Amino acid sequence: MTITEQATVPLSVAFKKGSQDLHDQAEAATFIDDLMNGKVNLAGYVNYLKSLRVVYAALEEVARDNATDPIVAVMHDPALERLASIEADIEALSTGAPEESLCQHEAATAYAADIHAASGNAPAIVAHHYTRYLGDLSGGLAIGKILDRTFGLEGRGLAMYHFEDIKAKVYKENYRERLDHLPLDDAQRAEAVREVQSAFRHNQSVFAELGQHLASYQR
Ligand code: HEM
Repeated sequence: MTITEQATVPLSVAFKKGSQDLHDQAEAATFIDDLMNGKVNLAGYVNYLKSLRVVYAALEEVARDNATDPIVAVMHDPALERLASIEADIEALSTGAPEESLCQHEAATAYAADIHAASGNAPAIVAHHYTRYLGDLSGGLAIGKILDRTFGLEGRGLAMYHFEDIKAKVYKENYRERLDHLPLDDAQRAEAVREVQSAFRHNQSVFAELGQHLASYQR
């Protein structure tokens, strides 16, 4: 989509269309593909959660710090916060095996640095917010079910995928509605779409980094 086309469609559509190819690539990442096919062990998944912990610590700190910005305020919702859930899942699933610390989270740290750099820039914050939380409320819920089955968790260690008091379908419709009415000018919209694309690339880098250790995560 060109920048002119982006300006004529609702922001939620510009986000979705602007990240479709990158989404397909993220789904196809070897680490994710192997995880979804039951080829990654629990230590690999714990490493993944540790990367997510770095990302969500940044996302939720920046969202809170900017919560009084009139644009961020429209999207900010503490009910979405995942950091405490991620920490609980790491606690529940960690066995202390050395393989759980193979990944140094350099990609997640670079991702977190970009999120921190977005502080004070509402369109960029909204972009990061959309990329993680709408993902968590979409494919994320199916991923939780697959992990539950694969690892025989019986619901244990899956707080990341459990949103208290949020019905995903209705919430996502309302979220898109809020996105579409944000008072952003064309330049800000274009910046937000670019930042969504950058956020997807950061997620790819997180998967690529975890993928380097697949031999040790095999099950
Ligand atoms: C195994 C990997 C993944 C699967 C199976 C998956 C699956 C899905 C599915 C089925 C949807 C559509 C849901 C709907 O139409 O309501 C979706 C949407 C979405 N996913 Fe993923 N996804 C994966 C990875 C990712 C990653 C890595 C990200 C980025 C962090 C991401 C971000 C999103 C976003 C932002 C949406 C919402 C698109 C929109 O409607 O605007 N997904 N995902």
